[in-house]
Amino acid sequence: MKYDFDKLIDRRGTSTYKHEFSQYYFGSDDILPLWVADMDFETPDFIMDEVIKRANHRVLGYTVPSRTMNNIIAEWIERNHNWKIHTSWIKFMSGVLPSIAVALQTFSSEGDNVIIQSPIYPPFISIPKANKRNVVFNQLKRVGNSYEMDLDDFRKKAKKGASVFIMSNPHNPAGIVWERETLKEVAEICHAYNILVISDEIHCDLVHPGHEHIPFATVSKKAREISITLMAPSKTFNIAGLGVSFCVVPDLKLRKKFYDALNALHIAHSNMFAYIGLMEAFKNGDDWLKQLKIYLRGNFALALDYINRNIPLVKPFDAKASFLLWLDFTDMGLNSKDLRKLMIEEGKIGMNNGADFGPGGEGFQRLNVGAPRTVIEDALRRIEKAVNNRGL
Ligand SMILES: Cc1ncc(COP(=O)(O)O)c(C=O)c1O
Repeated sequence: MKYDFDKLIDRRGTSTYKHEFSQYYFGSDDILPLWVADMDFETPDFIMDEVIKRANHRVLGYTVPSRTMNNIIAEWIERNHNWKIHTSWIKFMSGVLPSIAVALQTFSSEGDNVIIQSPIYPPFISIPKANKRNVVFNQLKRVGNSYEMDLDDFRKKAKKGASVFIMSNPHNPAGIVWERETLKEVAEICHAYNILVISDEIHCDLVHPGHEHIPFATVSKKAREISITLMAPSKTFNIAGLGVSFCVVPDLKLRKKFYDALNALHIAHSNMFAYIGLMEAFKNGDDWLKQLKIYLRGNFALALDYINRNIPLVKPFDAKASFLLWLDFTDMGLNSKDLRKLMIEEGKIGMNNGADFGPGGEGFQRLNVGAPRTVIEDALRRIEKAVNNRGL
């Protein structure tokens, strides 16, 4: 079956995050919102049909996941990421972010250092701060139009003492697929200095054709002993509105401590549609996902080509995963506030502000290309217009 990713769907009037918060985040509703990290594509039929069927049953009482759910998750991970896990390692959660928050509360104390690698998805900064942890930035190193980890700096910061390292694998916002050797070195360092690794792998199913996601816990025995992996079908199948994710913790001691904490809070569950979404996605999603990745790659190709030809002041990063395009506007010589104002007022385009991603993010914007191609073409024209009107 051929899926239609070109179909335009008006999401306004459905309490969509990106529309509801436009006024708050950009000070305007008159923008093309390509910021929040979900996609504008239809959630696939093999999920929708089951959700609708369940709703039509008309009794929305307490519901538990199917007994086969953990098997389906384990099969998906083995099939897609070559990682053989035991079903007892899995725990369902409504979201990756609450799992990060509980892991921080369980494995660190107020005032402890928490290492993150900026520029980074903003909640990696705000969640430790909200929990009164001390955020230590191990800034990524620019290499061409991508980043590498600065492992010397990482080692120094680890040696000074930290309880937790939160890693985005693949990396949001730059779409980096971390290599095995890099992950191995991270494991060596964190093991040596007794640092828990929270490996947020929410974008892992969206690694582009020709690239391979490497789950952190698979790179070595040490990695497996010190890590909590967080995954979800929410980005992959555009079901973030259902509240669906899961944790995988191979190490028995870590697992017991973490899952006891989740149980104590009674939060390791969600709603009936979340369970259906996860099951149907992982049972039936292979072909849809294959086509989606090809479509997304087409969007990246279009954006990179357009920007390189028409907006040479902007440097697009070369993402190898997911649907986020990290754009470097630093050659324009504007501060973050003026750049943001220019994009909103002249371009009427709503992207995430790079400065929110911590040190190294200033002068950048993050464009979501998980939308029909005509929308991306429109976005690119708006960015071009804004850059051309910079002197006005
Ligand atoms: C790296 C990363 N982690 C977590 C999340 C959010 O996860 P959840 O909605 O499951 O809490 C996002 C969403 O953009 C993300 O990019």
